[in-house]
Amino acid sequence: MTFEELKALDHQYTMQTYGRFDVALDHGQGATLYDLEGKPYTDFASGIGVASLGYGHPKWIAAVEGQAKKLAHASNLFYTEPYAKLAQQLCQRTGMSAAFFANGGGEANEGIIKLARKYSFDKYGLGRANIVTLKNSFHGRTITTLNATGQDVFHQYFFPFTEGFRYAEANNLESVKEAAGEDTCAVLVELVQGEGGVLPLEQEFVHDLEKWCREHDVLLLIDEVQTGVGRTGSLFCFQQYNIHPDALSFAKGIAGGLPMAGILAGERCRNVLTPGTHATTFGGNPIAAAAALAVLEEMDVSFLRQVNEKGAYLREKIAALDSPFVEEVRGLGLMIGIVLKDGVDRAALVKELYDRRLLVLTAGPKTIRLLPPLVISQKEMDTGLNALKAVLCKEERV
Ligand SMILES: Cc1ncc(COP(=O)(O)O)c(C=O)c1O
Repeated sequence: MTFEELKALDHQYTMQTYGRFDVALDHGQGATLYDLEGKPYTDFASGIGVASLGYGHPKWIAAVEGQAKKLAHASNLFYTEPYAKLAQQLCQRTGMSAAFFANGGGEANEGIIKLARKYSFDKYGLGRANIVTLKNSFHGRTITTLNATGQDVFHQYFFPFTEGFRYAEANNLESVKEAAGEDTCAVLVELVQGEGGVLPLEQEFVHDLEKWCREHDVLLLIDEVQTGVGRTGSLFCFQQYNIHPDALSFAKGIAGGLPMAGILAGERCRNVLTPGTHATTFGGNPIAAAAALAVLEEMDVSFLRQVNEKGAYLREKIAALDSPFVEEVRGLGLMIGIVLKDGVDRAALVKELYDRRLLVLTAGPKTIRLLPPLVISQKEMDTGLNALKAVLCKEERV
């Protein structure tokens, strides 16, 4: 099939909810993807932060193949070994107490929202269901998580949304206090706002927020859907903020390309969701869980150190380009934002990067977002940097 034939087929038979790039991906190896004609693209996107081990990773393939041959699905009516072992790994490596597995980030966030409301209902009864989230945040596309998202642009069309969310300024505890009240059961934040523009929260704000939450028995919920599973240079981002969330959500990179997500709960929340209160048919599917175990096995101390080194290298090299279009380069680990100056035509820059066969993402109004596979090689990073240099160092575009 040619690219044009595939594009026409897609347009004829699929709901056109995505503004796709003009590229059809066929296969990949490492951090390099190939289109239908075999043309290579350097991947600084990872399928939006999912392909944590890149493509064609032998241990990931062995884990998926092995589990597919044994048992592809069991449902949560039965015990399966990958499910329990994955929960053990995640808890032991984070200090959290219990896991629940889901299928995507929005769904996992629905889970922690339910957990927070039930924690409060069990203890205080009705009337304490409100959750404070941050302006500019992103928490998903379900009717509930759209409203948890602190951006008006997402509060359109699908009325009525699930009520019970109020929004506070990031890095401003007073604003959190104003948004909260007697009716508040939790605060939900991303430690690095991803879709909002790759904005890391300030350490001091996060520590003060944790302290305030503890004092008021308000749960601290962390959305690690994008920041989790090695992306920011620690297994979960909260670990480098030195806080202890009551619950967190994760998704994207956990199973290295298969749909999987979940929640981790701390000790006081481990028994909040009881039989019959939360469930999913597919969550914790054995193939996805086996893939996730392979991902976690790769992510040892030296792997995570390399994520930090690679992130520092990319950020330093991009900043050193001294591009007339770039205002700031920021981020943590391999979650990087290139913030463009006001008035720069981001779409034109991104198109040119794609023409030069570098796959990138965008975030917020004026950021180019990089989420390369965590296993990206030096050569692949330098290939991508060459494309960035060619595009970001051209004077005539401002
Ligand atoms: C922080 C955050 N939360 C939630 C989501 C939603 O995840 P999903 O698209 O898997 O439902 C995303 C997706 O980008 C995200 O970045």
